[in-house]
Amino acid sequence: MLSFKNVEFNYQAQPVFSDLNFDLSQNEFCYVIGKSGAGKSTFLQLIYMNILPSYGRIIFDKYDSQTIKPRELPMLRRKLGIIFQDFKLLRDRNIYENLSFVLEATSRTRSEIKKRVNDALTDVGLSHRRYSMPDELSGGEKQRIAIARAIVNDPMLILADEPTGNLDPETSLEILDIIKKINARGTAVILATHNYELIKSHNAKIIKIEDGKALKVVLKPKQ
Ligand SMILES: Nc1ncnc2c1ncn2[C@@H]1O[C@H](COP(=O)(O)OP(=O)(O)OP(=O)(O)O)[C@@H](O)[C@H]1O
Ligand SMILES: [Mg+2]
Repeated sequence: MLSFKNVEFNYQAQPVFSDLNFDLSQNEFCYVIGKSGAGKSTFLQLIYMNILPSYGRIIFDKYDSQTIKPRELPMLRRKLGIIFQDFKLLRDRNIYENLSFVLEATSRTRSEIKKRVNDALTDVGLSHRRYSMPDELSGGEKQRIAIARAIVNDPMLILADEPTGNLDPETSLEILDIIKKINARGTAVILATHNYELIKSHNAKIIKIEDGKALKVVLKPKQ
């Protein structure tokens, strides 16, 4: 479903990745770890083709970084759900509108949009907050809404960049549990984090970005 082949990426003359190879199959859950500045966020941006490799190629679904046209980017992004550390909700719209906004560009009927938004809000346990404004929610609730927004269009892959970075340990675990449940229903997930404590008991694939390469991490079985 997703493949990086000998990807090199430079910001101006600064290399971030020199020879990065990576594969992800459908339904897989993969953590991306690595120290600050290693390139975790850059890695995720390459997947949604916000930036393109300087060398090598990335293939996601039927899209190839070497041949994708700018007008195809919205179609590619519709197959992804993206979650950020700082939630990125639209502050001037209520929760329902934050989610329905994602579906407006798709040719869905109003009743279909309503059903999808309500289902996604139910999945994260916040359908009763549909008419709240983002500023009326706690950080954990905001992140749950951001997860609902990421799944409302039924993506193939969820990209999460430090989704628990602004949350306390207990709320972080709740957020991770919701993302795991979505994965168990068949959506692939790539989650970047430097919180190794949070993820170490989850038996999922982990790659470490170091010196411009992606290293597979083999975890010790849980004690
Ligand atoms: N827009 C940009 N222009 C130039 N250099 C950048 C840009 N964004 C990131 N970089 C550089 O690329 C490298 C990788 O950054 P990136 O944000 O991907 O790291 P990260 O692993 O996500 O770090 P963190 O854990 O702090 O979020 C860093 O050296 C950073 O300074
Ligand atoms: Mg980052």
